[in-house]
Amino acid sequence: MRRETQLELIDRINVHRSDGRGTDTAATSMRIPTSDYTDPERFDRERRLLTKAPTLVGLSGMLPKPDTFAVVDLAGRSVVLTRDRDGVVHGLLNVCSHRGAEVADGCGSAARLSCPYHGWTYYLDGSLAAQRRTEYFDDAEARGLTPVAVAERDGMIWVSADPQTQIGDDLTRGAEDELRSFDLGSYRLFGTRSFGRRLNWKLAIDTFMEAYHVGVLHRETLDPMIYSDYALFDPFGDHGRMVSPRRSIDELDETARAEWSLLPHATILWYFQPNTVFIYQQDHAQVYRANPGPTADECVLDVSLYVPPNNLRSERHWQRNLDLLVEVTDTEDFSTMAGAQRGFHTGAHDSLVFGRNEPALQH
Ligand code: FES
Ligand SMILES: [Fe+2]
Repeated sequence: MRRETQLELIDRINVHRSDGRGTDTAATSMRIPTSDYTDPERFDRERRLLTKAPTLVGLSGMLPKPDTFAVVDLAGRSVVLTRDRDGVVHGLLNVCSHRGAEVADGCGSAARLSCPYHGWTYYLDGSLAAQRRTEYFDDAEARGLTPVAVAERDGMIWVSADPQTQIGDDLTRGAEDELRSFDLGSYRLFGTRSFGRRLNWKLAIDTFMEAYHVGVLHRETLDPMIYSDYALFDPFGDHGRMVSPRRSIDELDETARAEWSLLPHATILWYFQPNTVFIYQQDHAQVYRANPGPTADECVLDVSLYVPPNNLRSERHWQRNLDLLVEVTDTEDFSTMAGAQRGFHTGAHDSLVFGRNEPALQH
């Protein structure tokens, strides 16, 4: 992040701290229907959108070298991401052209994908490498896996699960320079956890989109480190960025502006449409993706931790870090949201309210 941007953001935090306004605000509070989280028809429309929209699924480190692959799910559509021997990333629907079996599972290294059903194999660009007993098949034209649009930009991998969708240039809606400055392409994927929970996929995203709850829900865990006021919000088109200062920001020497840096003293969170939250933390990065489950009341969460190069931390440190961030978000955020999801079905309230102090949610 450019120094001028960091200084600007610190100045904005300081205005909030000194004049008691607290946090960036929207003009008015906003009501939304509770049914947005429960209505099956709306949910079906959302799922269709989620298979089409270009989606940030991870950093380049999820395909760490040539001849690697990783399977991702986009609203129920399985996509194989590959990095071929030339380093080029491909997105392929995970559907064998023989009789439809999924050709890959999980992630790993391979020069070809081999279908587990009858053993047809594919090169990592999706073209058919070999049909076992090819003499029994009369098609003149060998069919490969179906490609989908994929883009690797500034260390981030975006994909759509719809073969008709094109990916344009404006993926991050003006945040390119800022994101490029983090050199995310050099980060290594430490680990990913996936787990299903009984809450609407949007509720899982919502829990990241305000710092208002930090002082209450995370009183014991995050509040000692992070201010629940003073959060900044900036839209980037339909994406958005929140900055939550850590309490250590109090240590900045007011007289030494030339030495100020925001990054050690803030959690910087981007929401990328449609369902990804990317968090830059002092010494690592996290990617959360909330996939819709089979019904409006279920979702599957993917949590990944990425580690910058040349850091001196041990593997145990990162393991503890991943365990802790899953534990805090799961036992505190997601379990509270599962309660909200149950409550939506009681008819207690036909709407909810996003306060003026929750501008990212409103956005
Ligand atoms: S379905 Fe893949 S080889 Fe038959
Ligand atoms: Fe939270």
